Amino acid sequence: MRKIILGVSTIMGLTLVACTTARMPDRTDGAAFFAENCVSCHGADARGDGPLAADLADAPVDLTTLARDNGGTFPEARVLSFIYGDPEDSHLARVMPEFGDAMGDDLVPVDIEGTMTPTPRELAGLLAYLESIQQ
Ligand code: HEC
Repeated sequence: MRKIILGVSTIMGLTLVACTTARMPDRTDGAAFFAENCVSCHGADARGDGPLAADLADAPVDLTTLARDNGGTFPEARVLSFIYGDPEDSHLARVMPEFGDAMGDDLVPVDIEGTMTPTPRELAGLLAYLESIQQ
C-alpha cells in the first residue's frame, strides 16, 4: 500500500516538473528578467532612461520603438543576437554587456523570422516581452 502511494506521488511529482519545464516562456517571464537585468540602463518603461543611462558612453536605446525604427517589423534576429552577444565581437565595440553567460542551457524552439531556432528560455521570454511593448 505504501509503495503504491509513493509511486503515485512520484508520478504526480514528475508530471508537475514536466509541466513547468515544458511551458513556453511568455512576456511575464521576460518582464521579470528585464526588471532584474535591464532597467538600470534602459529604464523601467524600456525607453532608455534608467538610473545608469546618464553615465554611459553610449545612450541605451528606447526599446519600445525597435519595430517602428525598422519599418514596422520587430527585428527579432538582430535583437536576439545583440542581447545574447557575439563571442567573436570585441567587448569594447559596445557599451551594453552580453547576456549569453547569464542564460541557462535550457533551449526552447522559437520562430525567429520564419526559422524555428533553439533559443535560451530567458531570451525567448525577453523577446516576447520586448515585442509586446512596441508602440
Ligand atoms: C549597462 C547598461 C545596459 C544594460 C544593463 C542593458 N543595456 Fe541594452 N543597450 C545599452 C546601450 C548603451 C545600447 C546601445 C548600443 C551600445 O552602445 O551597446 C543598448 C542596446 C540594446 C539593444 C539594441 C537595439 C537595437 O538597435 O538593435 C537591445 C535590444 C537592448 N539593448 C536590450 C537590452 C536588454 C533586453 C537588456 C537586459 C537583458 C539590456 N539591454 C541591458 C545599455 C544597456
